[in-house]
Amino acid sequence: MMDKQIHLWAFLQGIGFFPSGWMHERANPAGVFSMDYYARVAKLAEQGMFDAIVFGDQLQSRGAGGRTPERMAMPTLDPVSLLTAMAAVTKHVGLVATVSTTYNTPEMLAERFGTMERISGGRAGWNIVTTAHPDTAPNFGEDDLPPKDERYRHAKEVVAKACELWAAMDREGPLLPQGRPVLVQAGQSPDGRDFAARTAEAIFCPAANIEAGVDFRSDLRTRIAAVGRDPDGVRIMPGLSCVLGGTEEEARANHLAILDLADDALAIEYLSESLGCDLTAFDPAGAIPVDTILDRTILPKADIARAITPAQEKGTPLGDFAANFMRHPRGHNVFLGTPEQMADMMIAWRDAGACDGFTLQPSYMPGGLEDFVEQVVPLLQQRGRLRTEYPGSTLRETLGLPAREAVAA
Ligand SMILES: Cc1cc2nc3c(=O)[nH]c(=O)nc-3n(C[C@H](O)[C@H](O)[C@H](O)COP(=O)(O)O)c2cc1C
Repeated sequence: MMDKQIHLWAFLQGIGFFPSGWMHERANPAGVFSMDYYARVAKLAEQGMFDAIVFGDQLQSRGAGGRTPERMAMPTLDPVSLLTAMAAVTKHVGLVATVSTTYNTPEMLAERFGTMERISGGRAGWNIVTTAHPDTAPNFGEDDLPPKDERYRHAKEVVAKACELWAAMDREGPLLPQGRPVLVQAGQSPDGRDFAARTAEAIFCPAANIEAGVDFRSDLRTRIAAVGRDPDGVRIMPGLSCVLGGTEEEARANHLAILDLADDALAIEYLSESLGCDLTAFDPAGAIPVDTILDRTILPKADIARAITPAQEKGTPLGDFAANFMRHPRGHNVFLGTPEQMADMMIAWRDAGACDGFTLQPSYMPGGLEDFVEQVVPLLQQRGRLRTEYPGSTLRETLGLPAREAVAA
């Protein structure tokens, strides 16, 4: 395998990274409920030599006020079912499904991922999350999520038990191609990072710039070594969104054009969803309702206060604040520029130790993925930084990871 290879994942949740992306002329919002669409994007990811396709999970099908995640163009299709269907139309690309340890038993997990693993010939990955959205709890007959440390304690037990069940499947029947799915993690807190260090073979994280990437990857590698695992056996894959153009100016103009598709109502809906706090009844021209936000937010209140206070002091109206918030969704790196600049940036991050690769989050779908595969992938290949064929058949082989690794309890 070539040195300093860039790994690529495709996070294809819904219709793209920007909340307004679904209105883009090269988006296909109706497609997200059709198999034709998923067959097309799965084949595109494989053509682009991506290691894996990743889907998130949203278990809060009905949130506060009867509003649904679909309103944010995040269809709540089940990731395991979707990826298993995508396995049928691909041969190599890995299939990473996000599934919560808080709301699934180890038995359910072992069976669903066991199915995906067998049907795909060893391409299954499990993005282990503990569920952070409080609107989820009522869907499982509870008022609130368990506290975070408890969710992570429970996650450890669930993963260990699921691994025992896969080992039992291996003993009792034909071997699972990878022994068990590749274990992936996306938590950011100290608890989340420790859990990742013990368990994960790949980590999906936000890193807004190269320094943040270097900090995160160094911290995780230190934690991984501290629990006696090999840091080179874990791939760190920060999110990366992009808007491309023939020139840098054109890319910036394309970016503004996408953002301008959103009106105040969409921006406020998106801010509400991100904060877990319904702000849709507030006047976009009025002041930011700081007290309501701090009272109800699901995010750390001190961080939110720090983010909101300067805008509040300047008298920024809620609508403008929400529109600005949409420009930097979820703390991921958003790259604007030419395909050449993008390839240079990706290589620079990789060489600086900021990542092992990237989880591409196209701005709109499927046009954004098509552009990346047609315009950036060949440049990375020409420079010898991206494979031109898959090395084997399983996801673990594609990631260049050891065949199996015991999970530290
Ligand atoms: C990049 C990223 C993607 C995530 N995707 C999901 C998801 O699709 N579904 C979900 O329930 N939680 C998701 N999570 C949240 C996890 O549930 C995690 O448990 C949560 O972030 C709380 O832990 P933390 O404070 O350690 O990050 C994601 C988190 C990150 C950082």
